[in-house]
Formats: sequence, structure tokens, C-alpha cells
Amino acid sequence: MNNTASIPQVTLSPGHPIPRVIVGCWQLAGGHGTIRPSDAIEHLCAFFERGFTAFDCADIYTGVEELLGKFRTECETRFGKASERLRIHTKFVPDADTLASLSKNDVRAVIHRSLRRLGVDRLDLVQMHWWDFGIPGYVEAAHYLAELQEEGDICDIATTNVDTVHLKEIVDSGIRLVSQQVQYSVLDRRPEKTLVPLAREKGFTLLCYGTAAGGFLADKYLGVAEPTDPDDNRSLTKYSRVIGEIGDWACFQRILSVLRDIAEKHQVSITNIATRYMLEQPQVGAIILGMRSAEHLADTCRMCELVLDDQDLRAIRGVVALGKELEGDVYGLERQKQGIHARIMKTNLQRPSER
Ligand SMILES: NC(=O)c1ccc[n+]([C@@H]2O[C@H](COP(=O)([O-])OP(=O)(O)OC[C@H]3O[C@@H](n4cnc5c(N)ncnc54)[C@H](OP(=O)(O)O)[C@@H]3O)[C@@H](O)[C@H]2O)c1
Repeated sequence: MNNTASIPQVTLSPGHPIPRVIVGCWQLAGGHGTIRPSDAIEHLCAFFERGFTAFDCADIYTGVEELLGKFRTECETRFGKASERLRIHTKFVPDADTLASLSKNDVRAVIHRSLRRLGVDRLDLVQMHWWDFGIPGYVEAAHYLAELQEEGDICDIATTNVDTVHLKEIVDSGIRLVSQQVQYSVLDRRPEKTLVPLAREKGFTLLCYGTAAGGFLADKYLGVAEPTDPDDNRSLTKYSRVIGEIGDWACFQRILSVLRDIAEKHQVSITNIATRYMLEQPQVGAIILGMRSAEHLADTCRMCELVLDDQDLRAIRGVVALGKELEGDVYGLERQKQGIHARIMKTNLQRPSER
């Protein structure tokens, strides 16, 4: 491995250091264009070799845990001892229809399936998602994970998309939470309302997705008309709705144009400015940047070396204020049944027959 020194690091727990940029693998789950598994393994190896040694996936990302299992084997073959630095973060996302009856055996079955798919004895990080807090059982589910942690199946426990009230309940029940994965970007500042203060108080870190708005926060969208059919890319479909929440395409263009001015000063990309800014925010441990290939690897390295000065940070804060603030707490809009965000989500993706 070479040139790893320039990638900033954060420690999630003793023995669990990761780069502050995690490679997001939802983009390999289908619905993001055609991706050949052999090509995907090559590009994942390229990221690993450059020092991006942490990868994010989920039990419900179709085929991705299996793919990362093969990638792990390839890493061991190619990089030998250095492959011990590899960290794969997965999620536990029980089906909405099964929340009311979830048992420890159900949780164990999903976790053991992730272990098999990834080809490991212990999962580095399990991030729990709960579709509906009107259905009790989330505290118990977190404790089932803690029991599996005690039994040696899991290194660290985390959550994703849990609002502040329920997260506090989970942490106060005695769960040793290392992180919460959440949407947080120059377009979506909901975490700043109550989640960031809770993270500071309870001592967990935020791992943030959506920092590139699925690819919209990039030079290629500056000065172009709003895409009429982003539906060939699920990530763009998702974030086109976030752009709708902050205003309209004209408002988004104003944001891109100010980000471009700052990017110009540093000779970097709009994505670099938008993502680096998120790394400067309190309680943000790392960002999770989705990648469909290694196309943006060199650019991501430039972001790691970028230093934003006070003037830049002030200007970006001004940009952020151009958009309307998203209402409610984290993932609140997404939980509104029949709302525009919930309508595009699939909430029953577990395949019980595979356990
Ligand atoms: N917990 C959850 O509910 C949840 C939800 C969503 C995502 N996630 C996680 O977060 C990860 C990130 O996904 P996301 O949907 O939020 O997407 P994102 O990271 O905001 O955007 C990813 C897209 O940005 C573009 N991009 C990345 N680096 C770039 C660069 N340097 N220059 C220009 N464009 C760049 C690429 O688009 P092109 O390929 O089109 O260029 C890429 O596919 C996922 O893979 C997943 O692991 C979690």
C-alpha cells in the first residue's frame, strides 16, 4: 500500500481506526447502472491500496455483502498483512413487517448470514435501522445485538437514521454506541438541531451519507437543466427529492455556483468543497462517499489534502443558508408514510429463505 499518510483517520473504538472517508457500496447494489462484479472488486482494491480501507454496506444491499466477501479474499491475496486494516461496516435492517415480532433468534440469523456472506468470524460494525418507532422492540433489538457482541459476533454497535429521542433512549438503556450513520450535507442540516448535541453529550460520532447528494453536488450539474429522468440511478432519484425540499433547481444552481467559486480558488472540484466542509463539522467522524467505480479516486485524494480557511468556511455557511431548512429531525420526512421520500423506499428487503 502506498500514500496512505495523507488520508485523515478517526478511531471508532480501541482497535477500530478508519479513514475519515468510507467507501459507500450501495452504488454496487443494482439500480445505479450496470456494474460487473469483477470490475467492482478491482475498483475496491484500488481504493484500499490508496488507503481507503473502510467500506460501508448493508444486509439489504442486494449482493453487496457477498461481493465484499470476495473483495476481502482478494485483498488478503494481494496485500497480505496489510489487509488486516480492512474494515467492513454493515447494517441490520429488519423488515418493517416483522418489527413487532422480532426475536433474538431472528436477529442472530441475520447477523450470522452477514458473517457468512462477508467470510469473517466477527463483524466490524453493525448499524441498526428501525423503520417505525411506533412499533416497540428497538431497545430490545439493540440489546440482542449487544448480546451477540458479548458472544464475539460483533466488534462495535451503531445505529443509522434513528431520531434523537429514540437514540437517547437506546443509549440510556446501556448500549455502547460508537456511531450513528445519518444524512448530513450542505443541503440537509437536520442533524444540527438535536442530534449533534446528543452525540457530543453521549460521546458517539456521526458517519455521514448524502454529502455529494448522490452525485448532484458536482461540476457536471452546474449550468445544466434539471434532469427530467434521474430514475436510472436510485441515488439521484433520492437526492432530487432533497433538492426539492431546499427550494428548486434554480436555488440549487445558486448553491453550486458559490461552491464553484470556492473550488476555483483551491483548484479542486465542487464535490471536494461540499464533502470537505462536512468533515469540518462538529461530531462528524467520517463521510461515506458512494462510488460506482474508481473514477473519482484521485479527486477524493485531493479532497483529503484540501484545507479550507475561515473565509471559505464562512462562504460555505452562506451557501448552506441559501436553501430552505429541511423540517423535523433526522429521517423524519423519510418516515412520513405516503410522503415523497417514503414512496421510493423498499422496507421489506430481507430474504428469510437465505438465512
Ligand atoms: N443509512 C442509509 O439509510 C443510507 C442511505 C443512503 C446511502 N447510504 C450509504 O452512503 C453511501 C453514499 O451514498 P449516497 O447515496 O449518499 O451518495 P453520495 O455519496 O452523496 O454520492 C455518490 C455519488 O457521488 C458522485 N461522486 C462521488 N465522488 C465524486 C467526486 N469526487 N467527484 C464527482 N462526483 C463524485 C458519484 O456519482 P457518479 O458515479 O454519477 O459520478 C457517486 O455515485 C452509500 O453507498 C451507502 O453506503 C446509507
